[in-house]
Amino acid sequence: MTSLSLEGKSILLVISGGIAAYKALDLVRLLKKAGAELRCILTAGGAQFITPLAVSALSGTETYTDLWSLKDETEMGHIRLSREADLIVVAPASANMMAKMAHGLADDLATTTILASDKPVMIAPAMNPIMWQNPATQDNLAILEQRGFLRIGPDRGEMACGEHGEGRMAEPAEIFGAIAATLLREQPLRGRKALVTSGPTYEPLDPVRFIGNRSSGKQGHAIACALRDAGAEVTLVSGPVALPDPPGMNVIHVETAIAMLNACQDSLPADIAVCAAAVSDWSATAIMKQKIKKRQNAMPPALSLKENPDILAMLARPSPRRPSLVIGFAAETDDLIAKAQEKLARKGCDFLLANQVGPTENGDEKVFGQDENHVYLVARDGHQDWGHAPKDMIARKLCREIAKRMEENHDQQRQRA
Ligand code: C5P
Repeated sequence: MTSLSLEGKSILLVISGGIAAYKALDLVRLLKKAGAELRCILTAGGAQFITPLAVSALSGTETYTDLWSLKDETEMGHIRLSREADLIVVAPASANMMAKMAHGLADDLATTTILASDKPVMIAPAMNPIMWQNPATQDNLAILEQRGFLRIGPDRGEMACGEHGEGRMAEPAEIFGAIAATLLREQPLRGRKALVTSGPTYEPLDPVRFIGNRSSGKQGHAIACALRDAGAEVTLVSGPVALPDPPGMNVIHVETAIAMLNACQDSLPADIAVCAAAVSDWSATAIMKQKIKKRQNAMPPALSLKENPDILAMLARPSPRRPSLVIGFAAETDDLIAKAQEKLARKGCDFLLANQVGPTENGDEKVFGQDENHVYLVARDGHQDWGHAPKDMIARKLCREIAKRMEENHDQQRQRA
């Protein structure tokens, strides 16, 4: 495990109050051995269990404890402490520390530094199992995870207080592994801007009715997350979905195809566009101001529809603002590959992910709202079967394909120059 090198990586370790603080000393040792540049903050609670001297002896640098220490603020203020880190690790993260971070408290050096930071934060919770299960702690955890905090543990086992259950801090070697995996993760799309459309559109007929479809947004949102994890700066333009906004990206909520198109155009320039939204093909020529009434003994009203703009085709149109890669989806109930090939030519995008939709033999829906999908990559020079896989796995595979093609484009440009 410790053969992994963290040379050149800067970590700020916050040790908060809990008996597990003694295990943080082992983490300090592992991080130092791996060559990480390490700074440590010991909270007042943490200092009840271990001393600043013990932390400094293992980290080889000063241990910071006091928000108001003039010496630390001139030499290494809380802003610098947080900005110089590639990752902030809170281990152990006590229930109190989690509550403060979730609610934006800044009443000591550790919490002020975390609040002033735009860097990823990983927490290793450690507390009594009942404290961990308490809805207050679980709500705080949900807030932190929603904001993109990373988490390792807690584990289940014997507690220092003699109780048994979930709440033990993850082992230092495990925390070290999670830190290394986060810091050494490849980010092939770092510096790239990506635009993703996701979910359905709702086209209103009157104040209460609309034309919509069964898209859940799961595949589009998973793609936006995978692009973010690959280092891209992501704008997600989402139709109405029941999913939470993924953290770490700019999410724009829209209802109609026109609003989706406008949001996409406002988000340009972008290097990559992935149109995963199931955009309604039509909208009402006129939206009734009042609810359309059902009249006795009268014919049902006729719907007058007009065609919606094709967002994918517009983004793929040759123009100086065209993203270098424009990718669409083709959902078909029959003749999948041939129809996807025809769509690729018509829309002018670089490639499509094609999937078969509609009910299976037993009547269940194959794709919409499901966690799995079976897609084919359909390009001008042929197609590949990507098989049946969870939507987030397909999203990660798509990201690798995007990174590969961006690299090839880059190489071609370099050769031409
Ligand atoms: O024509 P069809 O709707 O089957 O094409 C599907 C692809 O085109 C998807 O990538 C979808 O996001 C995109 N699309 C779009 N705007 C539309 C219709 C489809 O971006 N109005």
